[in-house]
Amino acid sequence: ALVTSTEMFKKAYEGGYAIGAFNVNNMEIVQGITEAAKEVNAPLILQVSAGARKYANHTYLMKLVEAAIIETNLPICLHLDHGDTFELCKSCIDGGFTSVMIDGSHHSFEENIELTKKVVEYAHPRGVVVEAELGRLAGIEDAVNVSDADAAYTNPAEVEEFVTKTGVDSLAIAIGTSHGAFKFKPGQKPQLRFDILEEVEKRLPKFPIVLHGASSVIPEFVEMINSNGGKMPDAIGIPEDMLRKAASMAVCKINIDSDLRLAMTGSIRKYFAENPSHFDPRQYLKPAREAIKGLVKNKIVNVLGCDGKA
Ligand code: G3H
Ligand code: 13P
Ligand code: ZN
Ligand code: NA
Repeated sequence: ALVTSTEMFKKAYEGGYAIGAFNVNNMEIVQGITEAAKEVNAPLILQVSAGARKYANHTYLMKLVEAAIIETNLPICLHLDHGDTFELCKSCIDGGFTSVMIDGSHHSFEENIELTKKVVEYAHPRGVVVEAELGRLAGIEDAVNVSDADAAYTNPAEVEEFVTKTGVDSLAIAIGTSHGAFKFKPGQKPQLRFDILEEVEKRLPKFPIVLHGASSVIPEFVEMINSNGGKMPDAIGIPEDMLRKAASMAVCKINIDSDLRLAMTGSIRKYFAENPSHFDPRQYLKPAREAIKGLVKNKIVNVLGCDGKA
């Protein structure tokens, strides 16, 4: 069934695990993720960015997810990733999504509250849940020095007021993760501010926290890309043991997109390198879909811990 994340998060919080929120852009990605979840009986969040919606169109994505629900019989939450305006959130709520993110993290604290509150007031009477964000996820370029990084991390002193005033259902925080395949500089030791997560947990007991920018940038797929004509030196992500630790804490939703992209691109590059004369898209999309399936299964069982929880 198409569900909200409310029950998923409640059980995840109590059970000390996290739900995977995977970005979807086309049929093969939806199939790879949902077939993996089906095999290990995991609840799922499928998320659609503004860019995905522009690429594939709202109705196609909606129908692909509906098809996956029919095929797998899993509880799936369909979520808008990084909604930046009330209008975009409204459009997804009206169009059948069960969850939306309003990302007001680049606004002032007061404006973030105001915008988030407006989305919550539209979403809740319609049975839709809302994720918001406090603090800014640093791009690697942004965090050039400690004081810049400090300014971007979530300030735990703000979280209670934000959640109380907005009525939001979950909160994304910035503790050192970032989007994309280059999360730390070469030679830099990957680090997350678990002290901030602990402080947030203390101030918001039982409240579900979301981790964006949480791909591991799996070396196997980076290597597959680089050894088959690609050029992604120094691609580096969040170590799996840190994600496991976050999942055991208040983090109930872990966002993964880059790992899916790397798996898909690596397998397609490898396929073409080995089969230069092939041109039937089914031939190279099949291993790409299989790679996504394998990746997601491993993530669910070995990192998120939500296998068997559907
Ligand atoms: O957080 C960003 C996600 O990876 C989605 O990326 O906006 O390119 O679809 P996108
Ligand atoms: P990654 O780029 O680390 O996969 O993060 C994805 C994300 O946060 C989507 O909102
Ligand atoms: Zn994100
Ligand atoms: Na958790």
